[in-house]
Amino acid sequence: MRVQISSRLASITGSAIRDIFKLLGDPSIISFAGGNPASSALEPERIADFASQALRENGRTILQYGQTEGYAPLRESAAEFFRHNGVHADPGHILPVSGSQQGLDLICKALLNEGDTMLVEDPTFLGALQTFRTYGARFAAVATDEDGAIPESLEEQIRLHHPKLIYLIPTFQNPTGRTLSLERRKRIAEIVNRYEVPLIEDDPYCDLRYAGSPLPAIKSFDAQGYVLYLNSFSKIISPGLRVAAVVCDDDALLRKLVVGKQSVDVHSPNLNQAIIDKYLRSGLLQQHVEEICASYAKQMAKMQQMLARFPASISYTKPDGGIFLWCTLPEGFNATELLTTATKRGVAYIPGTHFYAQAGQHHNTMRLNFSNASLENIETGMERLRELFISQGLR
Ligand SMILES: Cc1ncc(COP(=O)(O)O)c(C=O)c1O
Repeated sequence: MRVQISSRLASITGSAIRDIFKLLGDPSIISFAGGNPASSALEPERIADFASQALRENGRTILQYGQTEGYAPLRESAAEFFRHNGVHADPGHILPVSGSQQGLDLICKALLNEGDTMLVEDPTFLGALQTFRTYGARFAAVATDEDGAIPESLEEQIRLHHPKLIYLIPTFQNPTGRTLSLERRKRIAEIVNRYEVPLIEDDPYCDLRYAGSPLPAIKSFDAQGYVLYLNSFSKIISPGLRVAAVVCDDDALLRKLVVGKQSVDVHSPNLNQAIIDKYLRSGLLQQHVEEICASYAKQMAKMQQMLARFPASISYTKPDGGIFLWCTLPEGFNATELLTTATKRGVAYIPGTHFYAQAGQHHNTMRLNFSNASLENIETGMERLRELFISQGLR
C-alpha cells in the first residue's frame, strides 16, 4: 500500500522499551528493561471480586455509555485518595483518564501548538517525550542534581524560552529514581505561579516509598492552579486496567481536556474505573501497597548490593523508592551498542540515551528496573551484566 504518513507521526519512532520487549521473547533473557509491577503484585482474584460487586450493584450504568468526565464515584474516591499527597481537589476537578499516558496526551492536545517549547528534566520518561514530540514540542532542559530539578535553572529557562508547558516527575523519577526535595517543591510551585506557566506534575511512583518520609506533592503548594497533577493506579494496582486521573483546577482548561478526550475514546471504560473505585473504598489498598513496597525494597537492595560489586568507575543512583536505578558508565562506553551483546549473554536493560530530549546523546547511561525480577534473577542477571562490563575493559 502506498500511503503518505502525516507529518505529525512521520518522524516519531515507537517507544524503545516496546521495541526491546519484542527482543525478549526468549525466556532465558533476564530483563531489567521494562517498568512493570511484579506479577505477584497483581491480584486477579481480588479484582474479579471488585468487578463482580460493581456489576451486581451498578451493572446497567457500568455497561452503558458513560460520561467523558468520568465515573462519578471514582471522581469522589480519587479526590479522597489524593489527599494523602496533600492534593485537596474537588471531585469536579478530577478527570479519570485511560492511563497517565492519556492524561499527558490530552494536556498537550489542549495546550501545545507545533513548535512550542517545553521544559523537561534531562533525562525524563521516554513515553512522555514521545507524546510531546507528537504535538511538535521543542525542548529545553531544566538542570537537575541529586535533589531533582534545580529551581534557579527552572526560572532561568522560563525567562530564556518562555515555555508553554513544564513537565516534571518529582518523586522517584523515571528513569533516575531521584526525588525533588520539599524546599524545591515549594519554590517550584511559587515560580510556575509567578510566571504563569502550567506545570505537569507526573506522580505515579509516590506511594512506592521504601525509606524516608513521604513528601507532599508540588500541587499542594499551588496557589493559583498552575499545577496539573497526574497520578496513576498502574504501578500500585494494575497497568492493564488503564486508570489514572488528572487534577485540573481550571474549569476552562478542564473542559478542553474533556473535549479532547471525547474524540479519542468517549470515556475510559466504566468497569475499570468502577474496579479502582471499589478498591479505593475497600480500605485494603494501604496494606497492599505496604506489601508490594516490602518486596520491592528487597529487590532494590539486592540490585544495589550487586551494583556495589561492579567496577568502581560505574556510578548509580540510590533512591528511597520507585522501581528504577540509573547507571552511568565512564565516558566513551556505549550502553546502546552493548545491549546486543548483553541480550546474547541473557540480560537486558534500556539504554539511557532514549530518555534524553535531544536524540543520540549520553550513550554511557542505562536504566535498570528491579520491580519485575525475582531476587534470584536479579542476582543472576546483574552478575551477567558485571561480567559483560569487565569483558569490555571497565575497571
Ligand atoms: C513517569 C511516568 N508517567 C506516566 C507513565 C504511564 O503510566 P500509565 O500506565 O498510567 O499510562 C509511566 C509509566 O511507566 C511513567 O513512568
